[in-house]
Amino acid sequence: MANKNHSSLIIKLSIIFVIFSLHFFGHVNGVQSSSGADHHDHRQGRWELLLDNVGVVAMHMALTHRNTVVIFDQTRAGPSRYRLRRRFGSGLQCASSGDDASDSGCYAHSVEYDISSNQIRPMRLDSDPWCSSGSFLSNGTLLQTGGNGGGSRRIRYFAPCGDHSCDWRQSSRRLSEERWYASSVALPEKDRVMVVGGRRVFSYEFVPKTNSEENAFHLPLLRSTYERRSQGNNLYPFVHLSSDGNLFIFANQDSILFNHRRNRVVRTFPRIPGGGSRNYPSTGSSVILPLDHHNNFQRVEVMICGGAASGAYRSARQSHRYLEALSSCGRMVIADNSSERSEPRWHMEDMPDPRLMNDMIILPTGDVLIINGAKRGAAGWERATNASRRPFLYKPNEARGRRFSLLRATSIARMYHSSAVLLPDGRVLVGGSNPHNRYRSGRNVAYPTELRLQAFVPHYMHEQYHGYRPTNITIHYAPESHGSGARYGEEFRVQFWLGRRPSDDLEFTAYPPPFTTHSMSMNQRLLRLRPRSVERRQGGWVSVVLEAPPSPNVAPSGYYLLTVVNGGIPSQSQWLRFIHHAN
Ligand SMILES: *[C@@H]1O[C@H](CO)[C@@H](O)[C@H](O)[C@H]1NC(C)=O
Ligand SMILES: *[C@@H]1O[C@H](CO)[C@@H](O)[C@H](O)[C@H]1NC(C)=O
Ligand SMILES: *[C@@H]1O[C@H](CO)[C@@H](O)[C@H](O)[C@H]1NC(C)=O
Ligand SMILES: *[C@@H]1O[C@H](CO)[C@@H](O)[C@H](O)[C@H]1NC(C)=O
Repeated sequence: MANKNHSSLIIKLSIIFVIFSLHFFGHVNGVQSSSGADHHDHRQGRWELLLDNVGVVAMHMALTHRNTVVIFDQTRAGPSRYRLRRRFGSGLQCASSGDDASDSGCYAHSVEYDISSNQIRPMRLDSDPWCSSGSFLSNGTLLQTGGNGGGSRRIRYFAPCGDHSCDWRQSSRRLSEERWYASSVALPEKDRVMVVGGRRVFSYEFVPKTNSEENAFHLPLLRSTYERRSQGNNLYPFVHLSSDGNLFIFANQDSILFNHRRNRVVRTFPRIPGGGSRNYPSTGSSVILPLDHHNNFQRVEVMICGGAASGAYRSARQSHRYLEALSSCGRMVIADNSSERSEPRWHMEDMPDPRLMNDMIILPTGDVLIINGAKRGAAGWERATNASRRPFLYKPNEARGRRFSLLRATSIARMYHSSAVLLPDGRVLVGGSNPHNRYRSGRNVAYPTELRLQAFVPHYMHEQYHGYRPTNITIHYAPESHGSGARYGEEFRVQFWLGRRPSDDLEFTAYPPPFTTHSMSMNQRLLRLRPRSVERRQGGWVSVVLEAPPSPNVAPSGYYLLTVVNGGIPSQSQWLRFIHHAN
């Protein structure tokens, strides 16, 4: 008897030891292991290599409602790896030797990636959009602003079209100021965008302007947070539209709620704890957490994760000492009209590891994927080291201490000038990385120019969930809109197929495609829409009446990905459009 107990104890201990070592192994060894139980744990997701060479660095990416992704780099890094046979414009032939071989005009710097065919085509850029910004307009056209040199005051449009023949169009109008490392935000006012900041530019401006006299407006927050010796630490400020119609603007460590209609600071928030800086070149990342119909979208919480230690940029530049990045994240409720509301304050927690240049992507489930970046240094040429190869998953609604988990590592470093965007099928497209001012490769380059395109495939896409996944989703707008979209506050119908009873936890989320660069996903937000009725019909069909959000303060007009999430398992998304009544 005693003997039997003894041996079962040994068995138990060995199981615990095996589990412990697998856990430990998985934690310490950042690189994907092809053996061991870790490999079979589908909950960590997996990686897919999509293309070996997209030719241009994915410094900027945005998903269009035509299910393509625009990808572009700067134009001044010399030849890309996408050589053209003929020049754009003149059509003159490009020779593969002589001057043409080093002439940037004989190379593409922008491509359009078609998701379903997994192919790219080159597009023409007329000015340099290096470190620029963008927002989608209500008709799905990308309004893209700023850049460097001759591109710094430029306004470009990209209207995606079905036959993939369309190209960038440059406006003859210009921005009032040079906007290099500025942020763009789509405003509730239809087809109006605000562009905020830029290098040594302490102002914001609107596109388009209300009248021809209108100029840029001074924004003191940008001046007070600027650190000259660190290249700013307040560039690419985090800007989120709060559902009260004001803008949350965060730079370096400080933030305000701002009324752009009156050019007025509505309130000043407390400084975020945790030291260091959060904006370029310290480059942490920020999201607005999912907005929910249960509180009429009126509870608004922002989250900021990662960034660089104080002095990290200078230390990397002057002495090649790469300081450890920040591990901390802060969450703060910036608007709440419930009876439990209290004074806004930051609630801090730690990521599993330090991280900067991290992208934060809100998944259709409402969880936040933290992906790409590095553990040490700062953003900028050759300023960081120790790639962060493992994404983190953050579950905002779990209890504190149980929110973070580690996902499958990738073997590809995604450092400065990398990006990530959510795709309609639920995968996350990952591209870029080029911490050099030219296209560089070779064995002696620690982080070569990275042109491979990958997808991170979250656990929810695993085949074991296929039976739970809603399929065949169709959207039916009210007849009055003549098929053009769902009007604010009004209902529309969604039909889908599910071979089993839907879970009690059935959600309908809407997500506008952000413009992504430098760890910023401009205009990213996720809404949990209100279902007015859910009706299960014969043969597995489910018909749902959904309510469009109450106003463009909650969701600026335009295209959104609609996803049906059944017990945490998302469907493929369909494009949904929110429109103003005048449409
Ligand atoms: C979309 O709207 C913009 C701004 O109003 C306009 O310039 C553009 O021509 C429109 N594009 C299409 C394809 O309708
Ligand atoms: C919160 O705001 C919403 C929308 O403006 C309103 O319907 C609701 O009554 C407000 N609730 C409280 C408690 O003020
Ligand atoms: C960071 O990278 C350096 C050089 O590649 C290496 O020696 C060091 O062990 C790494 N540190 C961490 C924390 O990964
Ligand atoms: C759902 O769509 C697929 C592909 O379009 C089709 O093959 C299938 O029959 C549809 N399912 C139902 C239940 O109609």
